[in-house]
Amino acid sequence: MSPSNESVEIDKSYELITRNCMLKTLDLFLALESIWTDLGEKEWTEDNFLLDLPLKWNLSFMCKNRSDESIIGYIIASQKPGTQNGAISNVNKIIVDNAYRGNGVGKHLMELYTQACLEQGLKKSQLKALVDNKDANTFYKKLGYNIIDTVKGTDDLTRYLYEKRLR
Ligand SMILES: CC(C)(COP(=O)(O)OP(=O)(O)OC[C@H]1O[C@@H](n2cnc3c(N)ncnc32)[C@H](O)[C@@H]1OP(=O)(O)O)[C@@H](O)C(=O)NCCC(=O)NCCS
Repeated sequence: MSPSNESVEIDKSYELITRNCMLKTLDLFLALESIWTDLGEKEWTEDNFLLDLPLKWNLSFMCKNRSDESIIGYIIASQKPGTQNGAISNVNKIIVDNAYRGNGVGKHLMELYTQACLEQGLKKSQLKALVDNKDANTFYKKLGYNIIDTVKGTDDLTRYLYEKRLR
């Protein structure tokens, strides 16, 4: 990946991920899964993609290539459980296909997510990134996220915990 990927003209469209659309296009989501596992993250199964989480189907978006209907990128997010007033949202996963990086797709997905959070009354966003995931750490800092903690997961991997106040 390189954010200096030559800017390519893509006829793309962004849309909310509903449970029904996830069910119908699950194969397309699974097709991008190697990007996730190559980072060292645990593979998501069909059950992970379909798992109902608070507000998940209000806060998750995808970007499709209109010409072949493939998925260019997506963000899956939900309301963080057990937080004060339930006012914190959580990005569970964001992926942009390697071929389309550096074209603002990730940023646009985060903007759609941010707007949706505010509409739901969620004023803070949190997410985690593996400490050695340079692309993601650069991306989140660019978008105004701050590291508030360093946490070791049950998978023994260390991640930065980021937070941003949304407005
Ligand atoms: C992180 C990721 C989603 C970024 O998607 P993207 O579409 O390439 O990002 P964008 O083109 O929208 O970039 C937004 C901004 O971040 C910057 N940026 C993104 N990746 C960068 C990188 N590797 N190095 C430097 N800057 C980077 C862009 O230059 C841009 O800055 P600008 O607004 O000043 O122009 C993408 O790299 C990805 O899918 N990575 C693999 C999956 C992953 O790591 N997900 C996060 C797990 S926690």
